[in-house]
Parts: sequence; structure tokens; C-alpha cells
Amino acid sequence: MRVAVIGFGMMGRQIAQVFAQHGHEVSVTDENPIAVKSGLEEIVHGPYGVESAVAKAKITREEGTKTLEQIRSAADLNDACKAADLVIEAIYEHLPLKQEVFAKLESAAPENALLASNTSTLTVSKIGTRLSKKERLLGMHFFNPAQITKLVEIVKTRQTSERAIQKAAKIVETIGKTPIIAHDEPGFIANRLGLTLYMEASALLEEGTAKIRDIDLAMKLGYNHPMGPFELADFVGLDTRLRNLEALFQATGDEKWIPPKALREMVNQGYLGDPSRRKDSKGGYQEFFKTTP
Ligand SMILES: NC(=O)c1ccc[n+]([C@@H]2O[C@H](COP(=O)([O-])OP(=O)(O)OC[C@H]3O[C@@H](n4cnc5c(N)ncnc54)[C@H](O)[C@@H]3O)[C@@H](O)[C@H]2O)c1
Repeated sequence: MRVAVIGFGMMGRQIAQVFAQHGHEVSVTDENPIAVKSGLEEIVHGPYGVESAVAKAKITREEGTKTLEQIRSAADLNDACKAADLVIEAIYEHLPLKQEVFAKLESAAPENALLASNTSTLTVSKIGTRLSKKERLLGMHFFNPAQITKLVEIVKTRQTSERAIQKAAKIVETIGKTPIIAHDEPGFIANRLGLTLYMEASALLEEGTAKIRDIDLAMKLGYNHPMGPFELADFVGLDTRLRNLEALFQATGDEKWIPPKALREMVNQGYLGDPSRRKDSKGGYQEFFKTTP
């Protein structure tokens, strides 16, 4: 199968690697050429990249080499999509930008290609408002790091055809993931639950009830979560987390999604989360709260 990935940031590169590792041909594009270069580099040498997978014997050296051969950097969106069976958009969580990309996909991708967004929180039907044929529009929401996490949320709009959903679910299974289906409601399943936990964690911190470390440990040791809510926010990227909450608030008008003040302050000051994952970040929760009285 031929897959086009539009937006080669944190998620785009992970998604591209997963499809390539499962034998699919992947064309990638990003408006920022530096993102393409660093993305390809991360697919080779990143913490979940091909070299690491070979070293951990998750794949053979030959499979690693084949994976890298399957990924092509396309000249632009049209070039990336021209023969695609599936297009996955993974650009910033920003509705007008995504709408613009999907308007272009209509003519850039073959008529029978599935058009999917990796959005975490935006309404998929709104992303595709400018498409004339909406049966093939859906959400295909991967979880970070996509090379490891087993879940993909498939989002069904009122106009997505049952055939498109079945096809998407099958594709997800071919790359070793488990699909779950959600209707096109803000936050779908996983983020509505996950962000609720994050908002409560932020309230505990703001009230002074507990410290970052202890809130994180409560969920890790008490509930067996692999990461605490702040650790996970740093891992996801604090700018992305902020955009997700803004999108949820905009979609629902519900004040419970108004982003915590500290999160906005961190992003404004360049604390974008884990610096090993975001090279331009000054740090995450621990670093910010160490320097903030
Ligand atoms: N970060 C996460 O943990 C996570 C998890 C699941 C889903 N998502 C969703 O995935 C999407 C991408 O998130 P991310 O964390 O990878 O963001 P990111 O900021 O790391 O990457 C976004 C990339 O999109 C590129 N871009 C922006 N506008 C573009 C355009 N018009 N055409 C082509 N490229 C463009 C940027 O240059 C950047 O490289 C968002 O919708 C986000 O909500 C993120």
C-alpha cells in the first residue's frame, strides 16, 4: 500500500516509520525542510528509531534497511499524494491549517484514497468541510510513540462511509495495532479521558495540594500508568498539549477545558516539554517549576 504523510513533526515521522516497517511505501512532506531532514534522521537514530529497534532485536538489520528504503521525501503535497491509497495528515493542531491541507487533498490524492487526520482533539468533519466527497474522510489517531503504542483511534464522522471505516480498521491491523472506533465528538475517547486526568492533575498542582513528582507517582504506582500526567505532557510536547486544550475548549465551549495558566506560561517562555524530544525546548514541568517561585 502507498501511504502519504503530510506534516513530518513528532507524530508524522513515527507514523511514517510504522507503515514503512510493515512494508508499505511511504511518501512524506512538510512545509519546513528542516523537519524533513531531522525526521529522517530521527527515524534512523531516534530513541524508537530503526537502529534502536535493530539493537533491541525487534527487527532484523535487513528489515531495518528495507524500512528506510520504503520512505521517500516528496517534493510537496501533490507529489506525496499522487499515487496514495491512504493520506495521513499530521500537521499542527490548528483547524484553518488543517482545512487548507484537506482542501488540497481533494485533487492531490487519487479518488479512492482514504483521507485521514491524526488530530487529537479537533472535529474531523470540520477539518474536511472543504471536501466535496466526504465518505472517505476519517480520523486515524495514533498515540505517541506510535512505534510502541498499540492503539489507533478511528474517528467516524456522520458522512464517513462504513466501507472506509472497515478499510481503515483493516489497515490499522496490518501494522500491528488495535483499532477502536469513536464518533466525531471533541476529544474522541482517549483524549477526553486523558485530558480530564491532566486537568485534575493541574488543579492539584495549582491548589498546592501536591508536588509534580508526587502527582506523577500517584498515577504511576497507584494506577499502573506508565507515565504520570505531567511526565506525559512533557513527552507529548507542551505546545501540542496547549493546542489540544484550546481546540477542545473551542469545540465545546466548556470552561473545564480552559488551559491551565502554568501551561500557557511555560509555552510562552519556551518550556515545550522533554528537551530530548523537542530540541528547542528549555525543559518541562520540573525545569519550569524549579525556576518559578
Ligand atoms: N504530540 C503528540 O503526542 C500527539 C499524539 C497524537 C496526535 N497528535 C496530533 O498530531 C498532529 C501533529 O502533532 P505533532 O506533535 O506531530 O506536531 P509537531 O509540531 O511536532 O509537527 C507538526 C509538523 O507539521 C508541519 N506543518 C505545519 N503546517 C503544515 C502544512 N500546512 N503542510 C505541511 N506541513 C505542515 C510543521 O512544520 C511540523 O513539522 C496534531 O494534530 C496533534 O494534535 C499529537
